[in-house]
Amino acid sequence: MSERCLKTKAVLTAMPKRVLILASGNGSNFEAIVKYFQGKGLDVAFELLCDKKDAYVFKRAKKLGVPSYFVEFESLYDFLNARKGKYNLYVLAGFMRILPEKILKICAGSGKFYTDAGCCNIVNIHPSLLPKFKGKDAIKRAFEAKEKKTGVTVHFVNRNVDSGWIIEQKSFDTKGLSFTQFEDSIHKIEHKMYPEIIENLLFKKRVLILGGGARENALAANICNSPYLEKLYLAGANDGFKHLGETVDFTGYKELLEKSLALKIDLLVVGAENPLCEGIADIFAAKGIKVIGANKAWARLEGSKSFAKEFMLKNGIKTADYKIIDYSAGENRAAFDDAFNYFLKKAAVPVIKADGLALGKGVCIAENINDAKLAASEFLAGKFGSASKKILLEERLFGREVSVISLWDGKTLASFPPASDYKRLLDGNNGVNTGGMGAYAPSNISARERNQIKKYLKTLEMALLEEKADFCGVVYSGLILTKDGVQVLEYNMRFGDPECQVLLELLENDLLSVFLAMTQKRLFDVDLKFRRKKAYCLVLASDGYPESPKKGAEIFGLNEAAKFGCKLYFAGVKALPGVVLRNFNPNHADKKMPVNENTKKLSGLDRETFENLLTNGGRVLNIVKSGSDDKKTLDDIYKAAQVISFDGKIYRKDIGKC
Ligand code: AMP
Ligand code: GLY
Repeated sequence: MSERCLKTKAVLTAMPKRVLILASGNGSNFEAIVKYFQGKGLDVAFELLCDKKDAYVFKRAKKLGVPSYFVEFESLYDFLNARKGKYNLYVLAGFMRILPEKILKICAGSGKFYTDAGCCNIVNIHPSLLPKFKGKDAIKRAFEAKEKKTGVTVHFVNRNVDSGWIIEQKSFDTKGLSFTQFEDSIHKIEHKMYPEIIENLLFKKRVLILGGGARENALAANICNSPYLEKLYLAGANDGFKHLGETVDFTGYKELLEKSLALKIDLLVVGAENPLCEGIADIFAAKGIKVIGANKAWARLEGSKSFAKEFMLKNGIKTADYKIIDYSAGENRAAFDDAFNYFLKKAAVPVIKADGLALGKGVCIAENINDAKLAASEFLAGKFGSASKKILLEERLFGREVSVISLWDGKTLASFPPASDYKRLLDGNNGVNTGGMGAYAPSNISARERNQIKKYLKTLEMALLEEKADFCGVVYSGLILTKDGVQVLEYNMRFGDPECQVLLELLENDLLSVFLAMTQKRLFDVDLKFRRKKAYCLVLASDGYPESPKKGAEIFGLNEAAKFGCKLYFAGVKALPGVVLRNFNPNHADKKMPVNENTKKLSGLDRETFENLLTNGGRVLNIVKSGSDDKKTLDDIYKAAQVISFDGKIYRKDIGKC
C-alpha cells in the first residue's frame, strides 16, 4: 500500500461518528448524552438543532462546547437536506414535532432503510411504556392513571406519534411514589439508558455464533435482526440457516480464534456444551473477545456431575442423594459395593449417571438393582470413555420436570419462564430418551410451584455470587417438581434445545442487547420481558433416531409450511450437492423493518423460495409458533408438519397435550 493510501485509511478509521441531536426545550437528555460520551472519551461529534429560539438547551450546548443551530420547523427539511449523509445518527431529545415522511427519508439516507416501522437512523425517547401513553404529557397521564408500572421507551421514529420500532424499554414499580418521585425516576432512567443505547447504535457489533443445530438457527434468526448488529458470522451452521450470516470455516478453536481476530469479532455466542467444557470461552476471552458461554471452570457444572453435586451441597440447593464410584485410577470393587449397599439399605434402585459428558446418553434409570449394577459396570468399563470411568449412583426422584434457563453475568441472574421439553421419542412419553422431540413454554405449573422455583433461583443466584462465578453465559437448571419441593436433576451451561426455540419466541427484548448488557455486567439493569402467549415447538425427526437415523432424503413442502405462520429452524439438514443456497428465511417474513444492510437480505423482503434440502441427521427441523389461542397454534404447527414431507419423517402427535 502506498503511503498516501495508508494515510487516507488512517484518517477514515479515525473519523468520528457524527450525531445530530434535535431538541425543543430544556435539553436534560441532550446534556446526559453528551456528558456520557465525553466521560468515556468516545470519538463522537455532537451537534444540536433546536426549533425554539430561547430554549434552555442552547445554554447547555454552549457549556458543553457543542455546535448548535436554531432552525425553524418550516426550514428543517432544507437544513437536513443540505447536510444529507453527514450524520450517523439523529437523536430526538424532547423534540416536540412529528417528522414528515420526506424528512425521515433524508435521514434514512442511501443504503439505510425506511419502512412503516420507522427510520433506523432516527431514535426517540419517550417517557412511558409504549404503546401506552403516546404523545404529550405522558408522565402526567401515566401518574393520573395510577399505573403500577411505568417506564421509558427508546424507539426508531416513523411518521406516526411514538409508534416506531421499539428498541428497548425499562420499567419500574410506581408504588407509593409522589408525582415528583415518579417523574424523577423516569428522568433518571432516561439519562442512563439513552446514552447507552446510542453508543450501541453507533458502535454496532460483529457477532459469531458457534454451532449448527436448530437452537443456533433460532439464536441466529433473532440476532440477525438486531439494531445493534454490524454483521453476523456463523461457525458450523447447517445449510438450512447458513445464509443468515457469513460462514467462518475452522478446524480447531485456535484457527477459529485467529479468524475471529482477523474479522474483528466483538462477541462469540456458544451454542453447545462441548466447546465450553473444552475452554473456548477462556481462549477467546484471553484475546479480548467477549463470550456468551461459561468458562472452563464453570462449564464443569454441566461437564462433571460430581462437581455440580458439590456445588449444590455446599450452597444448600436441594438435589438427589448420591454416591460416587471412581475407576479413573483403576478398578475399585470396595467403592462399588459400598455405594450399592448404601442404596440397598434404603431399599432403593439408584439412577446411574456418567460423571462427564456423554452426548445426553449418560443416564440409566434401571427398574431393578441388577440392571442398575449391570449399567454401572458397563459405564465404569468405559461405555462413554473417560466420561464414565467415574459415575454417580443417585436416588431416583419422582415428579414433573421443567427446564429453567437463566442468564448470568457474574453479578446477576435473570431467568426465562420455565419451559418443558419432551425427551421421550414416542407419544405418551414412551420410548427411549432423545435430545428432545418438542417443547413448550411457559410450563403449566401451579402458583405454588412457581414460587418454589423463584426461591430456588434466588438460592442459585446467591450461590453463584458466593462462589464468585466469573463468567457470562447461561445456566440451565433441570428441575424436578417433587412432592417435597423443587430439586435439581442437572445443570447445563447452555440454552436447551429445543427449549431455546420456544423461549426466544416469548422474549420481547432484543437478544443481542441483552447479551451486550451481560458483557458489560449490566444484566441487573435489564428488564427481561416476555410475551403473554404460549410457544410450542415440534421436532420433525428422521426414522431411526436417536440410534441410527436415516439420512439423505429430500425435504419437500417447506414454503407451504411457512404459510401457517410457523417458523422453521433447521438441524439435521444439508443442501443437495451442487445447489447454490438462495435466500430463504420464512422466519423473517413477519418482521416489519430490516435494520441494516446486512439484514436486508435476510429479512424476507427479497426472499426467494428454498427447497433442495436433504435430511442429514436425527432431528431434522423444528416447527415453532406462539399465540394466545393454544388450539389454533398447535393446529397450525401440525398442519405445517403434515405438508412438510420427507422419507422417514417421524414426530410426536401429542406436543402440548401431555
Ligand atoms: P440428564 O442426562 O442428566 O439430562 O438426565 C436425563 C434424564 O434422566 C432427566 O431429564 C430425567 O428425566 C432423568 N433423571 C436424571 N436423574 C434422575 C433422578 N435422580 N431421578 C429420576 N430421573 C432422573
Ligand atoms: N432439551 C434438553 C437439553 O437441551 O439438554
